[in-house]
Amino acid sequence: MDWLKTQDSKDRELQAELQQEGKLPQHIAIIMDGNGRWAKERRMPRIEGHRSGVRSVKDIVEACGQLGISYLTLYAFSTENWKRPKSEVVLLMGLLLHYLKSELKELDENNVRLNAIGQLNALPKNVARQLHESIDNLSDNTGLTLTLALSYSGRWDILRAVQTLALDVRGGTLSPEDITEEKFRPYLNTNDIPDPDLMIRTSGEMRLSNFLLWEMAYAEIYVAPVFWPQFRRDQLYEAIRNYLRRERRFGKISEQLLDAKEANDKGSYVRKVLDIFSAKKS
Ligand code: IPE
Ligand code: IPE
Ligand code: MG
Repeated sequence: MDWLKTQDSKDRELQAELQQEGKLPQHIAIIMDGNGRWAKERRMPRIEGHRSGVRSVKDIVEACGQLGISYLTLYAFSTENWKRPKSEVVLLMGLLLHYLKSELKELDENNVRLNAIGQLNALPKNVARQLHESIDNLSDNTGLTLTLALSYSGRWDILRAVQTLALDVRGGTLSPEDITEEKFRPYLNTNDIPDPDLMIRTSGEMRLSNFLLWEMAYAEIYVAPVFWPQFRRDQLYEAIRNYLRRERRFGKISEQLLDAKEANDKGSYVRKVLDIFSAKKS
């Protein structure tokens, strides 16, 4: 199925409006929460909430691809989620396996690259195998990079990074006084992806639940008031619209940001004039 063919003109307009409104986030990270409560409200078993949540995943992946977002990271299963009742864990793993197989063709047709972070060797063998197969299959794609956080927790990743780094110190390839943010970063699972610009959590909960702790230092946080199965592209557009209205100061003050913007605008004006001038000469 071709996403663009099935996209209606109203949706295309909405996306164009967003693109014109400002610089879209390069990386969106989402804590997909509330599947169980969505099902409970409907007197359905929790797994129905997870099933319905997969439909939200498809819609959000599709919309991000169409918008030209470069990175989407989805918190699908945390280290702590292993503590859930075994029956739910088994059903969740089955759903993940099914998604990885059934969506492969569509993800490929739409140029999506797949990536995974977390303790992947803790996953059931068949899930890990399918995951690696899907990642390999999609590795030549150049569109949206979809990262699934599976058996992931931020503290686990930081500790793992510290352990590897400590080995390098012991091996003599790194000295403790040389450890900077830049030197530390490559040890993290997320080394290939930029820090999230926008972090969305659904179901109204205001906590990080051990997600991307290092990477989230300057992410803009948006809490959606709906459960994950109700979070579809319209809610995504609302989150992005909200993000575009914010001023990201990174510790500075507003005036400094305006000065930098003016200097940048002036610079690009001068560059344009020089371009026209050199085009005339040649
Ligand atoms: C999110 O929904 C999915 C996973 C954590 C796997 P939940 O299953 O946490 O749903 P609630 O929060 O209990 O409603
Ligand atoms: C966070 O949701 C983990 C995922 C979305 C995969 P949880 O439902 O596990 O988080 P808590 O327990 O409410 O903090
Ligand atoms: Mg939850």
